[in-house]
Amino acid sequence: MTTARQVALVTGASSGIGKDAALGLVKAGFDVVGTSRDTSRVTPLEGVTFLDLDVARDDSAAAAVKQVIERFGRIDVLVNNAGVGSIGAAEESSVAQAQTVFDINVFGVLRMVREVLPHMRAQERGRIINLSSVQGFIPAPYMAVYGASKHAIEGYTQSLDHEVREYGIRALLVEPAYTRTGFEANSTQPDLPLEVYAQQRQTFGRIMTAAVEEGDDPAVVAKVIVAAATDPRPKLRYTAGTLAGRASVLRRFAPSGIFDSQIRKMNQLAS
Ligand SMILES: NC(=O)c1ccc[n+]([C@@H]2O[C@H](COP(=O)([O-])OP(=O)(O)OC[C@H]3O[C@@H](n4cnc5c(N)ncnc54)[C@H](OP(=O)(O)O)[C@@H]3O)[C@@H](O)[C@H]2O)c1
Repeated sequence: MTTARQVALVTGASSGIGKDAALGLVKAGFDVVGTSRDTSRVTPLEGVTFLDLDVARDDSAAAAVKQVIERFGRIDVLVNNAGVGSIGAAEESSVAQAQTVFDINVFGVLRMVREVLPHMRAQERGRIINLSSVQGFIPAPYMAVYGASKHAIEGYTQSLDHEVREYGIRALLVEPAYTRTGFEANSTQPDLPLEVYAQQRQTFGRIMTAAVEEGDDPAVVAKVIVAAATDPRPKLRYTAGTLAGRASVLRRFAPSGIFDSQIRKMNQLAS
C-alpha cells in the first residue's frame, strides 16, 4: 500500500517530547508511526500507528522500518527522539554503563538512519531530525556521559547532512533545554557512585529537578520538530525554547572565560 500523504516515523513516541511530536505531525497532515519498546502498554494516540522498536537492537530497527514501508509505501520524515539520560560524575559510570547509554542515544540513531536512507534515497527526498540537547553543545557536568552522547549526535548529524543533501535529504538537529517530561526519572543513575562526588551530585540533582519543573512544556519542543519537518528552507540547527536559544547565543558569542565561569555558576561548582 502507498499513501499519498507524507509519512513520519517518530521513535520513542510513548511519552514526553516524542508523544507531543507525533501528535503535532498528525495535525500538520502527516501519516504518523510512533514507536515504543512495548506497544501493549502505550495509551493510543489519535492518528498515530504504534510499532514496537528497541533502537538498541539491529533487528528491531530493521523490522520497524520494513513494517513502515510495507504498510505505507514511503517514509518522508524520521524523528530520532528515543533517548535516555545519564546522571552522575564522569568517573562514576562504568564503561559498560556508558556503552548502554551510547547504544540508545548514538548507535540507536545510527541504526535508524542506516535503515531509512535507502528508502529516502530511492524517493529522492526525506528529512532526518535528530534530538540533540543544549548539552550537545555546552558542557554537562554531572551528566558527562549523556553530554558526550549528544555531542556525538551533533558531530554525526552535521556531517551526514552534507553527505545526503544532494539526494534530496536533510539531516537536522533539534536542541531543547530542560523540558517537563519523565526524562529525569528515566535517567540512569551512576553504577559506580563515589563518596567524593556525592555532595555535588546531590546539588546537581536539586538544580536539575528545579530546572525541569520550570522547564518547557514538551509541546514547545514538538512545535519546533514540526517546523524542522516542514520548513521549505530547513536549517541544520533548531534550538527549542527560550533557555536553549540563550545557551546557543552564549556558546557562540561569549568570551571563553565568561562562558566557562557561567557554566560553573549555573551548576553551583566551586570557582
Ligand atoms: N526532557 C528534557 O529535559 C530533554 C532535554 C533535551 C533533550 N531531550 C531529549 O529528548 C528526547 C526525548 O526525551 P523525553 O524528555 O521525552 O524523555 P522520556 O519521556 O523519558 O521519553 C523517552 C522516550 O524514549 C523511548 N526509549 C527509551 N529507550 C529506548 C530504546 N532502547 N528504544 C526505543 N525507544 C526508547 C521511550 O519509549 P518506551 O519506554 O516506550 O520504549 C520514551 O518514549 C531524548 O532524546 C532526550 O535526550 C530531553
